[in-house]
Amino acid sequence: MSLALDLPRLETTLRLPAQDERQQLLQGLLQPTAHIDPKYLYDDRGCALFTDICRLDEYYPTRTEAQIFSDYRDAIAAQLPNNPQWVDLGCGDCGKTLQWLDAVRPARVIGVDIAGEFLHNSMAAVARANPNLECIGLVCDFTQHLELHDLLAERPADAPVFFYPGSSIGNFEPRAAIRFLKRVRAHCGERGRLLIGADLIKPRAILEAAYDDASGVTAAFNLNVLNVVNRELDAEFQPELFRHQAHFDEAHRRIEMQLVARERHSVRLARHTRRYFGTGEHIVTEYSHKYSLDEFRALLAASGLRCSQYWTDPQEWFGVFLAEPA
Ligand code: AVJ
Repeated sequence: MSLALDLPRLETTLRLPAQDERQQLLQGLLQPTAHIDPKYLYDDRGCALFTDICRLDEYYPTRTEAQIFSDYRDAIAAQLPNNPQWVDLGCGDCGKTLQWLDAVRPARVIGVDIAGEFLHNSMAAVARANPNLECIGLVCDFTQHLELHDLLAERPADAPVFFYPGSSIGNFEPRAAIRFLKRVRAHCGERGRLLIGADLIKPRAILEAAYDDASGVTAAFNLNVLNVVNRELDAEFQPELFRHQAHFDEAHRRIEMQLVARERHSVRLARHTRRYFGTGEHIVTEYSHKYSLDEFRALLAASGLRCSQYWTDPQEWFGVFLAEPA
């Protein structure tokens, strides 16, 4: 049955109470090395800035993945179950999913994202453009709570395909990535599949430029998180007292995005709570882990997923992996 409604179905899964979310955010800022969960980068302004990042010359991942997808779309689609339930994890504007509809012919599309307002608009646009496609928006922080069993069970005959493009998996530290991928696997049944993109290891100069572009878009994206924190906690960060830094940590094989204090100062974080930042002291805002093709397949294997096939670009800058329950 397809739902030709003006508005897509929108659901919200259980999430931490707002008070606990704020406590976690505050605790992160009080650690010896302060950190902010990267999900706070994506308020409306952050989402718009990220869209701009994806168009930068220096930011190769989006473009490279898109090229792999367009080069191999039919070959990839041929490996997927028929008329699957297409689950787009972190769907944003759903632009990537739209490109798969003709080749995959999904029974329904489930867009999952933390940005509720944005999600509602993008699922409405998908539904309008595809009146016979059932579109469901699911608002949740799927990095912490992936709970789709009931939704998927509504169509027991249609296997799920989890679509997790863009190398967002790089945000997780490897151990957390395995925990997350195991939860995805637990939703797969026998016929479910995971189609996932991962950014590959490459020379430092290319990596660092991708996360510190000449026009300063990534800097604006990173600094914007302080405005989000100010709103969430009623804090008083002054973004002009911090500068953006992106550093490739060779040992951990990851880009580390940081906000570095330009001068010694103290910040009110919440009522009765302040923190000092010394000159050069930094807040970690995002990790972006990079893998070799073999390392990423090993990560999938450690999560109970067998990589049946993978695709890459001629420079091997980005990998697209298709995995099934092992
Ligand atoms: C959305 C997590 C894949 O790590 O490349 C881009 C985010 N941060 N530039 C990435 C990001 C700065 C991006 N992911």
